[in-house]
Amino acid sequence: MNTTVLITGVAGLLGSRMADWIIENQTSVKIIGIDNLSGGYMSNVPKEVDFYDIDLATDNQKLLEIFEAHSIDFVYHFAAYAAEGLSPFIRTYNYDNNLRSTAGLVNECIKHDVKRLVFTSTLAVYGHGDGGVFNENQIPAPIDPYGVAKFACEMDIQIAGEQHGLDWCIIRPHNVYGIKQNIWDKYRNVLGIWMYQHLNNMPLSIFGDGLQTRAFSYIDDCLEPLWNAAVLPQASKEIINLGGIKERSILEASDILKEVIGSAEIEFHEARHEVKHSIPTWQKSVDILGFDHKTDLDQGLRNMWEWAQKQEMRDRFVWPSYELEKGIYDFWKTNSEKITTA
Ligand SMILES: NC(=O)c1ccc[n+]([C@@H]2O[C@H](COP(=O)([O-])OP(=O)(O)OC[C@H]3O[C@@H](n4cnc5c(N)ncnc54)[C@H](O)[C@@H]3O)[C@@H](O)[C@H]2O)c1
Repeated sequence: MNTTVLITGVAGLLGSRMADWIIENQTSVKIIGIDNLSGGYMSNVPKEVDFYDIDLATDNQKLLEIFEAHSIDFVYHFAAYAAEGLSPFIRTYNYDNNLRSTAGLVNECIKHDVKRLVFTSTLAVYGHGDGGVFNENQIPAPIDPYGVAKFACEMDIQIAGEQHGLDWCIIRPHNVYGIKQNIWDKYRNVLGIWMYQHLNNMPLSIFGDGLQTRAFSYIDDCLEPLWNAAVLPQASKEIINLGGIKERSILEASDILKEVIGSAEIEFHEARHEVKHSIPTWQKSVDILGFDHKTDLDQGLRNMWEWAQKQEMRDRFVWPSYELEKGIYDFWKTNSEKITTA
């Protein structure tokens, strides 16, 4: 083993699948993994990973000990709670969990001369974008606290680059989905939410008219580019959108899923405060990271649905209370769920 990689959020979708990819494709790399299992599952973590159950928002001392115990070359910082629409109702949690965690990690990366920090930001930093198009050169203008936290992380990392010489690559993924995604959280990952709903005899929920567009990205297509983000010289200090090249409306996506799972009812809910069209540019990811859109939504959903049906029936993750009730959507109010039996 001559290279050591730290993956935060290793029990989640990107973290666990990145670990799988490294184990398969980079056999001389040792993986250290961190996760507090707040949004991911131990069953996702490959056995080869040297795993630490710590909370990055609070356990600075334990984080320091991990860096002292291992000579870490590259860091993938995936840990976050990425519930964009819910973030205005859990503001302080959002900033603690997403921004404070990153600041603590940046400290250790600087102290321990990490070769590069790869940070997954989000398209949420763009807000409404310029005519709906999200180009890496635009000045971010997020419209929710999650996007604000991620943009603050981006800026903090760039300052660490300027002042302390930390090398970084910032990735802004587009709606990533696939095997090992959390389908039990009521507030995030629309395709996973629909799969959970269908498995539990509930209608598929759509906020608003369903004409909002998103660029869905199959996780497997993103893994080699993420590896390249850490190791290729040309990815140094670059901000890069990453993911699928086709935008779909939420209604179109639900139609594609219906073909995969059989018939399903749709239940429309009040519109959320959200961006209408999310149209990221992707050429930079092709040029710098070698991204290739191999998996279309119908194939990716088939793969994910096959996996989802084999999963244990976990309890759904629902917040027992919110920091702010004012303006919360009916669908997220406690006990709002209609579960019907077949
Ligand atoms: N999946 C997407 O569509 C998408 C899109 C844009 C950006 N991202 C970003 O990519 C990263 C990974 O996303 P994902 O889809 O794999 O999410 P995920 O929820 O599947 O994984 C995140 C992991 O981080 C862990 N975690 C959260 N807070 C933590 C803390 N304080 N300390 C330790 N561990 C903690 C969770 O338990 C979870 O296992 C996130 O930063 C997210 O914001 C994801």
